[in-house]
Amino acid sequence: MTQDAQRDYWNQIADDYQKLTTISTDDFHYGPLLPGDRQLGILPAISESTTCLELGCGAAQNSIHLATRGASCTALDISPEQIRHAGALAETHHVDIELQTLALEDIGAWPSGQFDLVHSVFALPFIAVPDAFIGRAAACVAPGGTLLIATQHPVFSAEWLELEEEEMGLFLPSYFAPEDDLRETQAGEIIGSRAYPISAVAKWIYDTGLRDLRLWEPEPLPLEYLEQAPYHSPAWSELHPKLSAAPVAVIYTARTPAG
Ligand SMILES: C[S@@+](CC[C@H](N)C(=O)[O-])C[C@H]1O[C@@H](n2cnc3c(N)ncnc32)[C@H](O)[C@@H]1O
Repeated sequence: MTQDAQRDYWNQIADDYQKLTTISTDDFHYGPLLPGDRQLGILPAISESTTCLELGCGAAQNSIHLATRGASCTALDISPEQIRHAGALAETHHVDIELQTLALEDIGAWPSGQFDLVHSVFALPFIAVPDAFIGRAAACVAPGGTLLIATQHPVFSAEWLELEEEEMGLFLPSYFAPEDDLRETQAGEIIGSRAYPISAVAKWIYDTGLRDLRLWEPEPLPLEYLEQAPYHSPAWSELHPKLSAAPVAVIYTARTPAG
């Protein structure tokens, strides 16, 4: 998974991704069809003095949401097309966000401990070296601050199959090495979305020195409320039975000891 391939792929699909997926700025989203933070209550307190960094922001809907609550937000993504969408959306919402076209691999040179909240939703599956990414993200968290990572649940890599007549279920060949979801760029390069066992991600976070590790495996909203999910699309709605059988996302939070 080279950075060039990631950039090409996300540049290529940015328009469709933003057009076909409804991603709200009224709430903080954690993944497809899931309740937002208003219901889950995972975010730390946000005030006008809160500084936030979003990693792999796409059109930065979560940063825009936090900025409308007064936070100072920085958001970065490897794809200039995604950042272009973020800039347009921030302008529509009259919020000022610092947007940067940058690979997550390149934040290692930043001064450490600058942000009260470092958050990333579904960027981890696309990062070639996930433990190093978590280390760099953790280094950005200020004393007393929070790292929040939402990523693909390893069980979501299972195939949704009809087992017996009308009996549907999940087939997971290996929890320990879930299969990648492969995608192809126009140039024929392959990129994959990858999930990891929960204990592996928890260890990577623990090894950064952050503590107070908590995790969530939220259920999707009921079918009749899917349009209220801050992240939804017709394609995801079709997967509602699978998402109701096992979690699509794991959300991890951890904190730095107060300085
Ligand atoms: C599934 S999208 C999620 C976007 C956004 N967080 C959201 O919830 O809509 C994954 C994002 O990660 C970005 N990304 C992938 N690899 C990256 C890298 N190495 N550095 C920075 N961003 C990257 C992609 O450009 C894409 O916008």
